[in-house]
Amino acid sequence: TPLIITIDGPSGSGKGTIAQRVAKSLGLQLLDSGALYRLVALVALRNNINADDHVALAHAARALDIRFEPTDTGVCAWLAGEDVSLAIRQEEVGLMASQVAAVPAVRAALLDRQRAFAQAPGVVADGRDMGTEVFPQATVKVYLTASAEERANRRYNQLKAKGESVNLRRLLEDIQARDERDMNRQVSPLKPAADAVIIDSSQMGIDEVQDAVLALVDK
Ligand code: CDP
Repeated sequence: TPLIITIDGPSGSGKGTIAQRVAKSLGLQLLDSGALYRLVALVALRNNINADDHVALAHAARALDIRFEPTDTGVCAWLAGEDVSLAIRQEEVGLMASQVAAVPAVRAALLDRQRAFAQAPGVVADGRDMGTEVFPQATVKVYLTASAEERANRRYNQLKAKGESVNLRRLLEDIQARDERDMNRQVSPLKPAADAVIIDSSQMGIDEVQDAVLALVDK
């Protein structure tokens, strides 16, 4: 049976980077489930589908013609033959993704696609509900978190390095608002699985977190 490692947690906890590194070091596939929600959001924005049109959104989710290709820094996403890796990272798409992700029929439509990643030798799945809903049978479940202040700081430094003008207080407010939405939504709210190991990375470097996750796999 394939090795399944789930890494869930809030926005900005570093789970994307960790999932990617762990997948690479163990030679496993990477599932960036957030990218799936972003792809549905992109299709919705391009086709003027409203965030409250659940039927059209679920249809878009089922009809997604996508391909993922692993790269050094994550995955490339292709939508009907078009490289949309950059497009799905736009702020506007992220915002729509969080609305799309709250629609039960969309989540249901994406279940099989996500589970199809669990093939030998295995997969590292990054998201919000990987350990709770998508892969309840996972071998290792991690819930990666960090204080809202620390996550805002990291985001601040990232954006500043890219030369964007940012406001730390605004970033912190955004993160708190998103936590609130992710944790309190009706379907698949963000919470650690009962059997997840909680890692708080507020005081940890990226290598340290990676080692902590790999140590769980070895156990
Ligand atoms: O970059 P960020 O962590 O903000 O987002 P992401 O991981 O790319 O996911 C985009 C959106 O999809 C988030 O707003 C999540 O609420 C949602 N999502 C989800 O509901 N379930 C998942 N398994 C992954 C993402």
